[in-house]
Amino acid sequence: MMDFPKLEDLSVAGKTVLVRIDLNVPMTGGKVTNDTRIVRLLPTLNFLLKKKARVVLLSHFDRPGGKFVPDLSLAPLVDAVSAALGGRPVKFGVDCIGPAAQDAVKKLKDGEVLLLENLRFHAEEEKGNARFAEALAALGDIFINDAFSASHRSHASITGIANYLPVAAGRLMQEELEVLSGIFSSAQRPIAAIVGGSKVSSKLELLANLTKTMDTLIIGGAMANTFLYAQGYKVGKSLHEPKLKSAALKILKNAEKNKCRIVLPVDAVVAPELKAQSPCRITGIDKIPDNGIIADVGPASVELFARELSRCKTVIWNGPIGAFEISPFDASSIGLARAIARLTAAKKIRSIAGGGDTIAALMHAGLADSFSYISTGGGAFLEWLEGKTLPGVAVLLKSGAKKHKAKAAR
Ligand code: 3PG
Repeated sequence: MMDFPKLEDLSVAGKTVLVRIDLNVPMTGGKVTNDTRIVRLLPTLNFLLKKKARVVLLSHFDRPGGKFVPDLSLAPLVDAVSAALGGRPVKFGVDCIGPAAQDAVKKLKDGEVLLLENLRFHAEEEKGNARFAEALAALGDIFINDAFSASHRSHASITGIANYLPVAAGRLMQEELEVLSGIFSSAQRPIAAIVGGSKVSSKLELLANLTKTMDTLIIGGAMANTFLYAQGYKVGKSLHEPKLKSAALKILKNAEKNKCRIVLPVDAVVAPELKAQSPCRITGIDKIPDNGIIADVGPASVELFARELSRCKTVIWNGPIGAFEISPFDASSIGLARAIARLTAAKKIRSIAGGGDTIAALMHAGLADSFSYISTGGGAFLEWLEGKTLPGVAVLLKSGAKKHKAKAAR
């Protein structure tokens, strides 16, 4: 079991609590288009506010590259955070550091919320600069990390502040860690992972780790093309990575050695080009025409995948299995999401999904609420599945270990 300090381990009443959150949410025209990451913060924020803490929210937004970019200000997020808090006023500090931040924090009263400006307007944040972290820490009494989705970054606000303040995981961080650590320790087996996306090269470490930890590994999306190509199938003009032929064969070999069953598509939706409503046809995986592009896995593959999953007790999904953003090549991702939703509703499996595109595909299918657990992590979820220790999580575990030691010494 993971041991890390939690909210109730600290006394927060009347204290200024710095909460690292991830407000890197999808926005169009200054409006939040998906507030999941904000709503998921409510257990932490409500806990702190009920205890009459002074809550200072720290976040990045997008990648401004260490300079002030007006379009990437967090100011438009104030209304969204306030709305999530049931209309509670949220103050805004025009900088996350320096006199503007200090002034805004000083004016904060018990039970009030302040959001500070985008951390990444300062290059020191992404560099993990210690003085920047110390200056951020000087704004508060306690540090809470509730940004699992940014905890794969060794940035000042993720790993640095904890060097200067008592630290704990927020509720969302706690939930992510408990659910995701269970995948590799206590998940009910058989356990399957579905991995999609376009390139094997971007998920080599993921695939290698999953062949060691999963009972079944279903590969879809364009990355399946590289595996099919490595096995001698023709993939026409489809996206594939010929240079990764031997890496793909090695993954297949290791899977066999580890008794991990690899499942690849058996049919495909082939089109002359990847364009909406492009004429397309379904064909067996051994009959891909020389000038065709595999745009989606076919219906027989979806059926096969669903059959495989019905034999499992836990299912993890990362990466759409077709070009889901282009209709009609969203059919397999929607079909598979429906099959998983059905198995989940029937309590036959526990389903966990994560990753930006995967969640977008589930929202597109209208099924984001039908999975047992949706991680807020994109890159962080991927790195977790790769078996990596996330720097932000390492900091929390270190504090947990210290706490343990101190208790033992008493
Ligand atoms: C995310 O959206 O995955 C996190 O906010 C991290 O963003 P980054 O990839 O820009 O560091």
